Amino acid sequence: MRAITVEPGHAHSARLEDWLEPPVSEGAILVRTLALGVCGTDRDILDGHYGSAPPGARRLVLGHESLGVVEEAPRGSGFVPGDRVVGIVRHPDPLPCPACAAGEWDMCRNGLYTERGIKARHGFGAERFRLEPEFAVKVDPALGLAAVLAEPASVVAKAWDHVEGIGRRSAAFAPRTLLVTGAGPIGLLAAMIGRQRGLAIHVLDRNREGPKPTLVRALGGTYHASPASLGERVFDVVMECTAATPVIVEAIARCAPAGIVCLVGVSSPGGRANFDIGGFNRTLVLNNAVIFGTVNANRRHYESALLALAKAERAWREALITRRVPLARWPQALVAAPGDIKVVIEFDG
Ligand code: BGC
Repeated sequence: MRAITVEPGHAHSARLEDWLEPPVSEGAILVRTLALGVCGTDRDILDGHYGSAPPGARRLVLGHESLGVVEEAPRGSGFVPGDRVVGIVRHPDPLPCPACAAGEWDMCRNGLYTERGIKARHGFGAERFRLEPEFAVKVDPALGLAAVLAEPASVVAKAWDHVEGIGRRSAAFAPRTLLVTGAGPIGLLAAMIGRQRGLAIHVLDRNREGPKPTLVRALGGTYHASPASLGERVFDVVMECTAATPVIVEAIARCAPAGIVCLVGVSSPGGRANFDIGGFNRTLVLNNAVIFGTVNANRRHYESALLALAKAERAWREALITRRVPLARWPQALVAAPGDIKVVIEFDG
C-alpha cells in the first residue's frame, strides 16, 4: 500500500512511498482510508519542527485527522465491516498516570503519551490503517466527508467542556458573548459550538474576503477583519485559535470581568511581546479572570464533537472543507493556499 511518510526533525522529507500493511499489533480493526485532513501540526512536522517516529523507526506515517471504512473487525468489537470510523489520536502513557488511567489521556500528567501521526505512533495517512476498538469512533455516514472534521472538532469540544467546567466555579456563570480569534477550522468550529450554546458570536481574523466572513455571518455572528473593529468590547468567553503572539495579547485584553480565555493554538517558542505583567496580574485578579490552555481530546469529546457536527447545517459544515486533493497530488494539500479552511486528501480515488 502507499503511505505519506516523513522523517521527523528533517524539513522537506515527506514522500508518498510503498509501505508495509499495518501490523495487527496496531489494532484489531482494519480500516480503509477515505480521507485525511491536514492541519497546522502536520505542517510543523513537515517543516521539521515537531513530531517523532515510533521507537526504532526513522520515518513516521503522517496524518491524525482520519476518516475510513472498516474492512475487518473482530466479532464482539462493536464494529462491523462497512462502518465509517475515525481514529482517536492520543494513546495513554504506558505507566499510566492518573489521568491516562481514567481514560483522560488528553490530560496526561507525565508527557509519555503517544499520538498517531505526531508522536511515536504511525498516523492515518496510509491507504489502510489499524485501530484498537477503544481508539475507534463510529461516525454517521450521513456526515459524509465532513466526518473528517471529527478530530479538530473534538479539540474544540474539549475546549468548551473545560470552559464550562471552569464556569462552574460561580453559580452566576451564564456566558452571553464569545470572541474567537482566528477563522481557521478550529476557530470556526469553536464559533459553531458557541452558537449552538446560544452565545453571541464575534470572530476576529485578518482575511477580508473569501469564505471565512460568509461562514461567520451564516452562524449569525459578526466578523471583524481588524481588532479596531471590535471597539471597546470585552467578552465572557474568548477562544484564541491563532497562536500568533500579538493576537494572544489582544485576546487576553478582551476578557470581561469573571470571563474565561481559552488558548487553543500551539505557538512556536520565541514570540516575544511587550507585555505589562503587573497590569495583567492586576486585571486578572480584580476581574476573577481565568486564562487556560487546552490540547487534544478524549473519547467523550469525539462523541460530543460528532453531535455538534450533526447539529450544524449540512451546507455550513461542508463549506469548511475548501479543497479536496486526490492522493496522487498529495503535495498540493500540504501547501497552504489563500482561501483555505480545511484541506483534505482523498484516498478513495
Ligand atoms: C492535534 C491534537 C494533538 C496536538 C499536539 C493537534 O494538531 O489535533 O490531537 O494533541 O496537535 O500534538
